[in-house]
Amino acid sequence: VIGKAANVPPQPEQSGAGGDQIPGHVAIIMDGNGRWAKARGLPRAAGHRQGAEAARKVIRAAGEAGVQCLTLYAFSSENWRRPETEISDLMGLLRFYIGAELNSLHKEGIRLVILGDHKAFPADVAKMVDGAVARTAANSRMTLAIALNYGSRAELVNAARRLAERAKADEIAPADINDAAIEAELDTAGLPPLDLVIRTSGEHRLSNFLLWQAAYAELLFVDRLWPDFDGDALREALSEYAGRERRFGGR
Ligand code: FPP
Repeated sequence: VIGKAANVPPQPEQSGAGGDQIPGHVAIIMDGNGRWAKARGLPRAAGHRQGAEAARKVIRAAGEAGVQCLTLYAFSSENWRRPETEISDLMGLLRFYIGAELNSLHKEGIRLVILGDHKAFPADVAKMVDGAVARTAANSRMTLAIALNYGSRAELVNAARRLAERAKADEIAPADINDAAIEAELDTAGLPPLDLVIRTSGEHRLSNFLLWQAAYAELLFVDRLWPDFDGDALREALSEYAGRERRFGGR
């Protein structure tokens, strides 16, 4: 995985729980681009374009609020089932977005990492993504994780396979496989523990997104469609999070 950080096992008790009101790691399922466009009689591509604009605003707002890591679900492994024209629109948008935004992300000290397998994308897009990851690798103000061709079950299957290979090679014993060992094999290894998952557009599902990582995360479902989401909407979500009491299974 490109941009995978060092294998530091996440420490849930270090974030959220101890009176820290700003979530260390926020993940967003950016849903509703199609409905936003449909409501305006526009093509779906227009919804995705407006969605990319919303992402730009939310990335800035998250950095300003002091969120350490923001994860955006931009393309799921199930999105390949969409019509070819929509997939190619999304690839075009990714090209455009990286081209237009990379400089300012870099200037703002944002480190880009990728979750999922973007190698399956058109070669030029994959190369642009790799270049953006490499260029921003030393930045430390905020980490922006973009999930591209990501699916949580595939991530867990890959982790299980790698651990099985290591056990077979006698590098580890089956008894060594614990939470930390699994976490170290996930695409999110080294990222802060996930505190808050936001899904827009009124759907109440995780849709194969960060299933392991969301074990103790707060879930927030908002009705607003993603293209209408912005800095104020993020700040509202953060304030809702600050009002929740997290117990991590304790009491
Ligand atoms: C869900 O809306 C959105 C997507 C499948 C794509 C998300 C992509 C972007 C917001 C743009 C790219 C962003 C970055 C950061 C480069 P939908 O099409 O499923 O909407 P619907 O449920 O209303 O049809």
